[in-house]
Amino acid sequence: MRVRDKVTIISGAGAGIGEAIALRFAEEGALVVLNDVRRESGEQVSGKIRSRGRPAELAVAGISQEEGARWITEVAMKAFGRIAVVVNNAADFTQKGIEAAERSDWERVPRHMLKRLGEPAEVANAALFLASDEASFITGAHLMVDGGYTAH
Ligand SMILES: NC(=O)c1ccc[n+]([C@@H]2O[C@H](COP(=O)([O-])OP(=O)(O)OC[C@H]3O[C@@H](n4cnc5c(N)ncnc54)[C@H](O)[C@@H]3O)[C@@H](O)[C@H]2O)c1
Repeated sequence: MRVRDKVTIISGAGAGIGEAIALRFAEEGALVVLNDVRRESGEQVSGKIRSRGRPAELAVAGISQEEGARWITEVAMKAFGRIAVVVNNAADFTQKGIEAAERSDWERVPRHMLKRLGEPAEVANAALFLASDEASFITGAHLMVDGGYTAH
């Protein structure tokens, strides 16, 4: 178990990459505090983790508001009394509709299509490594997890 008993807050844990991170961390022994702005999604993922015999707390809140961040911290402290890792996964991701896309957006498409898309589990494994004792001498590093996309 690579993150045994590490209390880990994961924002946006109700779907996609955040869900994959939550499942992976729980599997590796973390005590996870899931955050999502959508209660139903959060409950689904916390239910999945608990059904596998691992603890999971849910803090429903939007992380862009200060009260949201405070609430998540409160839930974590009340449940586990400490916080070791914060995975800041949820963020506004601007996606334009087809009508609103500009020429430069379309020009990026063929380049993007040359490579495969990443799997949520691949991002989760990178986050797991950084939170584990294997990364004990790494601080403030930026780790690109993009299959080489930004190198082009
Ligand atoms: N999927 C990609 O290809 C990709 C690429 C680059 C960056 N990202 C970034 O990775 C993160 C996760 O992406 P994803 O594809 O898993 O997204 P997703 O839409 O599948 O899941 C995001 C989750 O976050 C929740 N959420 C949204 N806003 C929130 C808020 N303010 N507070 C709390 N929860 C909130 C949503 O309810 C949802 O459950 C995002 O920050 C995104 O910008 C994703």
